[in-house]
Order: sequence, then C-alpha cells, then structure tokens
Amino acid sequence: MTAEARRRGVTVTAVVREPARYPDLGAEGVVVVRGDVTDSGSVGGVVGGHVAAVHAVSPFSGPEQGFDSLDPDFFVRASDALLDGLGAAGVGRLVAIGLFANLLGADGRAVMDDAEVFPPEIRPFALAHTAGLRRLGSRGGAGPVDWVMLTPGGGLEEGAARTGRYRLGGERVPEGGSGLSYADLAVAVLDEIEMPTQHRVRVSVTGAR
Ligand SMILES: NC(=O)c1ccc[n+]([C@@H]2O[C@H](COP(=O)([O-])OP(=O)(O)OC[C@H]3O[C@@H](n4cnc5c(N)ncnc54)[C@H](OP(=O)(O)O)[C@@H]3O)[C@@H](O)[C@H]2O)c1
Repeated sequence: MTAEARRRGVTVTAVVREPARYPDLGAEGVVVVRGDVTDSGSVGGVVGGHVAAVHAVSPFSGPEQGFDSLDPDFFVRASDALLDGLGAAGVGRLVAIGLFANLLGADGRAVMDDAEVFPPEIRPFALAHTAGLRRLGSRGGAGPVDWVMLTPGGGLEEGAARTGRYRLGGERVPEGGSGLSYADLAVAVLDEIEMPTQHRVRVSVTGAR
C-alpha cells in the first residue's frame, strides 16, 4: 500500500499501536504514529489533514494464534471509532479491507456459513469481521464519511507482480476472477481514494489477468 502511494506521490501516515515495531516503514518515508482504531479520540487525533483513511487493521496476524482472546466486538468498535473520529476531523473517505468469509456464495449463504468450505475454527474471527461490516452499513448509510469495503474475492498473492488492473464485483464471490496481487489490491485502494467509484458498499475485488 505504501509503495503504491509513493508511486503516486501520496504521503502516508501509518497508524499502529507500537511504532517502534515498524522501523522499515519509517525508512520508506512513511510517518509512523501511535493510535488505536477502536478509540474515536485517537482516530480523530491522527487523521486531521488527511484526505482519507485506510482500515487494514486486524487484532490477529493469523489463525495460528488462536482466537481465545478475540473481542467479538473489535471490528464493531473499530467501525464506530472510524466513523466518529473521521467525521469529527473532517476526513470524508474511508477504504476498509474486507474478509472473503462474508462474501455470498451461489446459494446466497455467506462463505463462512458453509462448513464444507470454511474452517469452523476461524468462524469467530469471521463473525467479528462481519459485525464490523454490518456496523458500517447500519451507521454509515448517511453521515459525513463515505466508506467502501474492498474484499479480496479469491486468492490474495503476496509478492505477485503489479499489473495495475483489477476487477470490482458485488456482494457475491466473483466468478472467473483471477488471484489478486497485494500490489493490485493497493492500486484498487488508492484508486478508490483518488477517484471514488463505490460509495457506502462492500464490493469484491479480484485480479484482471
Ligand atoms: N482474503 C481475505 O479476505 C483477506 C486476506 C488477508 C487480509 N484480509 C483482511 O485485511 C485486513 C488486514 O489484514 P493483515 O493480514 O494485513 O493484518 P496484519 O498483517 O496482522 O496487520 C494488522 C495491523 O493492525 C494493527 N493493529 C492491530 N490492532 C490495532 C489497533 N487496535 N489499533 C491500530 N492498529 C492496530 C497491527 O499493528 P500493531 O499490532 O502494532 O498495532 C498491524 O499493523 C484485515 O481486516 C484482514 O482480515 C483479508
């Protein structure tokens, strides 16, 4: 994300809980500051003067950590804090990264509700993520913050090349889309900041190869 921003001449402030853990970001010219996405005052305090915020926060880095300490309201609290904090600071655009698990399958069920394709042990995380999306939908239908959630609709490929192309879909698992590189997800995020096309919705994003 920061590489794509730099390519476009966009300045980035990265917000994390412990800036000292991210020396590499500073070296890339990114300003790294302390903040908490679940605290509206904290969000409002760091976003002032920015054009948009990107919500790519997760309380966990992977299922191997287990979900015993997962706060089921984490993503709801994040949605509230972002809508309130951005609104108060006059920042009108929010791009959030969604979770494949709550896209809808061909039968209209969320992927996470099909135990044959979705591992039940990850379900608590998927439910928490989905609650955050619902909160954006219910509270963010009106108000000053125009949000979009971009949800990788298939494989997300770390290290794959940037093509500069991607495909936006809707609420369903997209058919026929190819895997998406992290670099092209970043292209979609930056495009939705610089030239917004999607408003107050969750959409899928896949590769266009
Ligand atoms: N295919 C898919 O559907 C798919 C695939 C991958 C990711 N995703 C989604 O994309 C998002 C990002 O995932 P990721 O894998 O990039 O996560 P990640 O590598 O674990 O990074 C999460 C970041 O969130 C920060 N963070 C955690 N709690 C925070 C808090 N309270 N306030 C501020 N920052 C906080 C962490 O920094 P600190 O710990 O220093 O605060 C960390 O930098 C998640 O929503 C994830 O579910 C979706």
